[in-house]
Parts: sequence; structure tokens; C-alpha cells
Amino acid sequence: MKKNIGAIMGLYPTPVTIVGTQSEERVNWINIAHLGVIGSNLMILSLGNRHYSNEFIKKNMTLSINLVDEAMMVKADYVGMVTGWRTDKSDVFNYTLGELKGAPLIKESPLSIECEVLDIIKTGANENFIVRAVNTYVDDECLDEEGKIDYEKVQPLLFEMPNRQYLSIGKAVGKCWSEGKKYNSNNEE
Ligand SMILES: Cc1cc2nc3c(=O)[nH]c(=O)nc-3n(C[C@H](O)[C@H](O)[C@H](O)COP(=O)(O)O)c2cc1C
Repeated sequence: MKKNIGAIMGLYPTPVTIVGTQSEERVNWINIAHLGVIGSNLMILSLGNRHYSNEFIKKNMTLSINLVDEAMMVKADYVGMVTGWRTDKSDVFNYTLGELKGAPLIKESPLSIECEVLDIIKTGANENFIVRAVNTYVDDECLDEEGKIDYEKVQPLLFEMPNRQYLSIGKAVGKCWSEGKKYNSNNEE
């Protein structure tokens, strides 16, 4: 039996990310977990329109997306609790710059993506940024022998809103586009 608990957001957990932006004076970091994949190199990030970050995203039309591991959790939570309007958060993470202006890449993040903004869609009080990955930088130790990202090594932190918690990922339990071959319509479980 399932109970209908209404028109709520139930699509959790989502990955925790730190989005990096840059003004003339300094870089800024914001914790963003309302995001999605909309293609092989396209993503959508949903930001409340009053955040400090938005102005610089719109000015540069670039940003970085940095995955967070457990070691980064305290800093990641902090940049999601204080605003750049009142606090200079530029020192919270060490960073480098890649090819794009305005997209600082967090050194301690296992995986950082430099993105260009393709479009901005407004929904209520949110600005939703459609972004394209231009470059993806991955910690050597999180790549397998074939150079593919090993997410069991990345261990990206996850987020869920109802209990306001960070979660960790488990281990791989099956192979996509493969497990389905075991399905037998005459012998359903
Ligand atoms: C775990 C977590 C997830 C968050 N996810 C989002 C999000 O997806 N969208 C958003 O607009 N704000 C989100 N926030 C809130 C912003 O990170 C927060 O308001 C931040 O201080 C804004 O920074 P800024 O004003 O310097 O840009 C999240 C905060 C936390 C702690």
C-alpha cells in the first residue's frame, strides 16, 4: 500500500555540488543540489533568483560545477548557509582556473566541470541555468585503468530535502543495459 502524500518534490537524493562563480573582485561558492541531467553534456541548475551567485553567472555566462566528497562536507554546507551578499566566501576552497573566465575549479573536489551557460529559464522565484560541459577535470585516483570515472572512488555526497541530510553512495549492484537480459516474461518474480 502506498499513501499519497501530495504534490511534493520526491525526486531525491540528488548530488551535492558547489557552483563556482567569479566577480571582478573575487570568486564565490554556492551549494546547489537542485539540478539535473538533460543530455550527454547538458545539465540544468536551479538557483533562487536572490542569490549572490546569479549576477555573476549572468554576467560571465559561465560557471563551474564541483562534486563534493565527505571530506568537503563542512565547507560545502557552510557555503550553502551564508551568502556572498554579506560574507566573502572566496577563501573557503582552493581553486584553479581552466579555460573559461568566471568558472573557478575547486582543487579538493574529485570532479570539476567547466560550463558555459546556454539558456536561462525562469520558473517562479528560480532562475534555471541550462549549461554545457566544456571541460571535465577528474582526480587521477578516481579514474579506472581505461580512463573512465569510477564513482565508487569519487564517492559523491548526496542530498535529500525532507530530512535535510547528506547521504553517501553505496556500492555498484548491477550493470546497466545488461541486468535486463535476465528478465523472463514467462517467469516473473
Ligand atoms: C545542501 C544544500 C543544498 C542547496 N541547494 C540549493 C539549490 O539547489 N538551489 C538554490 O537556489 N539554493 C540552494 N541552497 C542554498 C544556497 O546554497 C544558499 O542560499 C547560499 O548561501 C547562497 O549563496 P550566494 O548568495 O553566495 O550565492 C542549498 C543549500 C544547501 C545547504
